[in-house]
Amino acid sequence: MDWSVTPLSSHTGAEVRGIDLTRSIDADARARLNRAFVEHSVLVIRDQELSPPQMLDAVRLFGDVFEQHNTKFSLPDFPLVHYISNKDFFPDGRRYIPGEGYHTDHSNAVQPPKATVLHAIELPDVGGDTQFVNMHRAYETLPDATRARIDGLKAVHVYQSRHSARKLMDLTPTRREQVPDGVVHPIVRTHPESGRKSIYINPIRIDAIVDMEEPEALTLLDELLAHATQLSHEYRHKWQRGDLVIWDNRCLLHKANGDYDMDQTRYLYRLMLRGDAPV
Ligand code: SIN
Repeated sequence: MDWSVTPLSSHTGAEVRGIDLTRSIDADARARLNRAFVEHSVLVIRDQELSPPQMLDAVRLFGDVFEQHNTKFSLPDFPLVHYISNKDFFPDGRRYIPGEGYHTDHSNAVQPPKATVLHAIELPDVGGDTQFVNMHRAYETLPDATRARIDGLKAVHVYQSRHSARKLMDLTPTRREQVPDGVVHPIVRTHPESGRKSIYINPIRIDAIVDMEEPEALTLLDELLAHATQLSHEYRHKWQRGDLVIWDNRCLLHKANGDYDMDQTRYLYRLMLRGDAPV
């Protein structure tokens, strides 16, 4: 297969064209894909048409599958594959838009997923973009004094932070007992493959900073988030049907947008890949 990798911005995202993930991918192509993933942090692999088992096979090119936390969203026949949809509702009748508000996935895990993968099955005519911000750039553009202040700090990650503006869908009682809570990770982490440092925060899941009073911790986290989410750190993905997008949770925050006509359907398959404990 003759395929190309083209950057989508100066810092984040690359488009992959000409590859068919239903076909066998040789070792050289696999290595090139994995290098491109680490270099660009988001790969947009166009024009795929994958069934859930085909998607499982395809994402294994990048690593081992991570079991996602809320089993409510798993596909009955392929429970490792979840879905993202705008057609679910909270018990009180409010619509649930998964992924609104900047976050990194499942950071309450001891070894959070290195990557998340979405495959677009049905999309609204307009809107529903996913925004990504590059946390390497965010770290590298901090003032020296802030970098010195946050190097060595650790945060406590839980399933649902008391401070989060966004509410998650509840877990089943059994799953609640299995899903980790109160896991401590550094606020500055080093990417295990590139060696670059990034800010590792998560407004949905960080409940506290270790050894810091709450008001000071919340102010610091707000400042870091405001710095990180500047437009100059962003790649905004406009979905096309058939896109398979894989992103690096170790060095990005992302958020979904519920800004489209809710009579239309936005439906994507979702998988995650296992990662290391952040250091
Ligand atoms: C997510 O946060 O995993 C979902 C992102 C999206 O639906 O755009």
